[in-house]
Amino acid sequence: MRNKLAIANWKMNKSRAEAKEFCEQLRQAAPELTGVETVVCPPFTSLYLVAEQLENTGVHWGGQNCFWEEQGAYTGEVSPLMLRDLRCRYVILGHSERRQILGETDAMINRKLAAAIGAGLIPILCVGETLQERENHRAREVVKEQLDQDLRNLAPPTAGLVIAYEPVWAIGTGVNASSDDAQEMISFIRERLAQSLGPESAAVTPILYGGSVNSNNIAEIMAEKDIDGALIGGASLQVSSFVTIARLIANA
Ligand code: 13P
Repeated sequence: MRNKLAIANWKMNKSRAEAKEFCEQLRQAAPELTGVETVVCPPFTSLYLVAEQLENTGVHWGGQNCFWEEQGAYTGEVSPLMLRDLRCRYVILGHSERRQILGETDAMINRKLAAAIGAGLIPILCVGETLQERENHRAREVVKEQLDQDLRNLAPPTAGLVIAYEPVWAIGTGVNASSDDAQEMISFIRERLAQSLGPESAAVTPILYGGSVNSNNIAEIMAEKDIDGALIGGASLQVSSFVTIARLIANA
């Protein structure tokens, strides 16, 4: 039985005051959020505050990125140990915005995954194809390549692993993947995980969909058998829509 997950990726949004207001409202709703694990991934500047606000509420928190070294002369980077120090359970790695805008390669993501797993974090590994790759019928090949390279030489993570299928063309565009397309790719991802990490690990790894998820489309997406939840960008910035989506995931 896999956990269902609703993960908020705030990206580069919210002042500390806005983050605090969000957490205060989320704390009120938290007791009713059963049957789904909820996670908030704020920018680093709000992470300490979010950790304090969400402590003992059942809601978890995580980073949006981390480096592969534990400490040292790496200006601007944050290590997995530092995230653990803030009692993070999760870290998002390999988000397409980092791959495309910051030039992160699969080799870098592979090192980050190893370091995060070594520190006891649960990585949320993002994979997904661009529109051009989909139109050229290369979506599966691209996702397979990302998975194989990102997970290369990694033992099945003991703390766990989450995969998020986020087609790049669906992120922030208002155009989500159809539930059929998301299901097809996510079942393919599970097959690949069985090859790289073994069938037992693949069977317990939650695989999420991300890309223009909102309270109107999540029920249809969650009706698919292999989809275990969502990684939510824009619609996670308001407590009300995040909580509605989390409830719909719980009830799916
Ligand atoms: P949107 O939900 O804003 O499309 O963003 C998805 C995403 O990138 C989550 O990581």
